[in-house]
Amino acid sequence: MVTTPQFLMVSPTCFDVSYHINPWMRPDAWQEDPDAMRQRALAAADALRASIEQAGGSVEMADGVPGLPDMVFPANAAVVLDGKAMMARFRYPERQGEEVHFLTLFRTLQQRGLIREIVTLPPGCFQEGAGDCIWDAGRQHFWAGFGPRSSRSSLEAIAATFDKRVVPLELATERCYHLDVCFCLLSGGEILYLPSALTPQALRTLRRTVNPDMLIEATEDDLLHFNINAVSLGREIITSLCTPALRQRLQARGYHVTEVDLAPFMLSGGGAYCMTLRLDRSSAPQHGALH
Ligand code: ARG
Repeated sequence: MVTTPQFLMVSPTCFDVSYHINPWMRPDAWQEDPDAMRQRALAAADALRASIEQAGGSVEMADGVPGLPDMVFPANAAVVLDGKAMMARFRYPERQGEEVHFLTLFRTLQQRGLIREIVTLPPGCFQEGAGDCIWDAGRQHFWAGFGPRSSRSSLEAIAATFDKRVVPLELATERCYHLDVCFCLLSGGEILYLPSALTPQALRTLRRTVNPDMLIEATEDDLLHFNINAVSLGREIITSLCTPALRQRLQARGYHVTEVDLAPFMLSGGGAYCMTLRLDRSSAPQHGALH
């Protein structure tokens, strides 16, 4: 059966940058011209949506909620696999208000048959969704980031909820506060990652688990452009504006790069991947299917 990859996005009508919970956030820059920024954000989200659709995905665009600007990053809402959604628990009070709204949203997705089951984490166990937990269908395990946001204890919760192996990757710096800022699994199984973002132990784990020719080292420049935070769909990689060097490296691997100007979202520390959440991730190896 051929299914269309399904992405959740949240419309940025309520997006702004008004607080500072990661080192990239620039409320000052947003405040220079909030109306123009929001217009740019709306256009950027439309362009991202169009790129995903162009690549063969379908996008479910949910409404934002006033006072919760970071809902535009639904990668942090939940971990979803085989129709089961494990709802996030946010570390910072600034984002904790999102939990109840994402739960309501996921219940409506469940009523519509896009989600099969919803589970919640025990209180005190922080886990910020697919931003810190990436399913690797080829290797049959999750890659789970922890440290700045998700708790170490979330790893056991993920393993128990999904009955899958979880490979821990401790994040070394606040700059890479979610795994998806410094780690991107491509559809062919290659991993684009920034070595300095991982602790020595996490680096050893990664290099032991993945064949060297499947590891692509990203550069500081790629981090600064938020390019590692990319959506991979088939041979298409959708990311914020990138350097020619990265484009060429990915092209040499057989990928085509689509760039979207996501500058307003980068002022909040986010890029293409975290503006989306895959709702249809399946644990089965993806032979031939668009994934
Ligand atoms: N301002 C948001 C935060 O700090 C950005 C979240 C980006 N999400 C991600 N998965 N990288 O929480």
